[in-house]
Amino acid sequence: MAKAVKTIGVLTSGGDAPGMNAAIRAVVRMAINKGLKVKGIMRGYAGLLDEEIIDMDTTSVSDIINTGGTILYTARCKEFTTPEGQQKGADICRKHGIDGIVVIGGDGSFRGAGKLSSLGINTIGLPGTIDLDIACTDYTIGFDTAVNTAMEAIDKIRDTSTSHERCSIIEVMGRNAGYIALWCGIANGAEDILLPERYDGDEQALINRIIENRKRGKKHNIIINAEGIGHSGSMAKRIEAATGIETRATILGYMQRGGMPTCKDRVYASIMGATAAKLLAEGKSNRLVAYRHGEFVDYDIQEALNMTKDIPEDQYEIAKALVR
Ligand code: ADP
Ligand code: F6P
Repeated sequence: MAKAVKTIGVLTSGGDAPGMNAAIRAVVRMAINKGLKVKGIMRGYAGLLDEEIIDMDTTSVSDIINTGGTILYTARCKEFTTPEGQQKGADICRKHGIDGIVVIGGDGSFRGAGKLSSLGINTIGLPGTIDLDIACTDYTIGFDTAVNTAMEAIDKIRDTSTSHERCSIIEVMGRNAGYIALWCGIANGAEDILLPERYDGDEQALINRIIENRKRGKKHNIIINAEGIGHSGSMAKRIEAATGIETRATILGYMQRGGMPTCKDRVYASIMGATAAKLLAEGKSNRLVAYRHGEFVDYDIQEALNMTKDIPEDQYEIAKALVR
């Protein structure tokens, strides 16, 4: 049942991602265009429970479309996972006149958003994570920037690996998902890609491929290892011992989460942010904005959280075929 809202809040939660600022800007400006008032909630659900709430206008979001990080800061908040914490959050929203909220984050954040919705605060979720691990959507805010950042870093490591004729294990982020690893694997022409969704732990097979590649004259051997597998340092030591080829591990780490968002992240985040504000203005609640099969769509939050997705097998097979 549609319920009109007058004042909305916006918060970012979980890991930050480039493009979150573009999304915040779009939420704020589209909401104001629709005659709504907007409040920024600092530091995710933690800031909500601490009542760190500020008024926002169109100038509050000037000069941020091109910046990484999130101007609202982000946090993780244990208290909000409890029914008492959620009730307190809904009560604080009401106290500040907030009757709608946009939550930019990942699956954990959407679970919280669903709870706020059931407590009478209209909520809309926006997928913001570099990991691309949200099942209902083919795009998440920050993934494009993160893979471009990682790709450029891996190109640089490749130069020095070739000069020294070394093997390099490069660990990329992604929590339990291998999307960043898969994309970098293809974009960087990696000799091997280790994905949590696929890796069977057969290190001997990996070693055999490295030896084979060296016999075929490959000067370097780039292995992209997903964070979900990890242990890059010890893997490098074992590979060096088994192959006799100098092997180095590099963990790219947090650099992947920062930096100026790409054009795609700015545009998609802007469209998603504006869509969220429009949905709230229409009185909608408990929806998650997504991009699926080439279109911007929205799903019921619980339905979206129940969806599953996997690494596209054809893309994984292509990645492997192109380096043999
Ligand atoms: P992400 O949103 O990126 O998946 P987290 O899983 O860390 O990141 O979740 C972010 C925050 O969302 C948590 O710190 C917590 O405050 C809230 N949250 C996570 N799970 C739940 C839940 N089941 N119910 C309510 N809130 C939750
Ligand atoms: O979800 C984004 C992400 O960067 C993951 O790739 C990584 O596992 C996690 O966040 C790291 O989180 P934290 O900032 O808590 O170290």
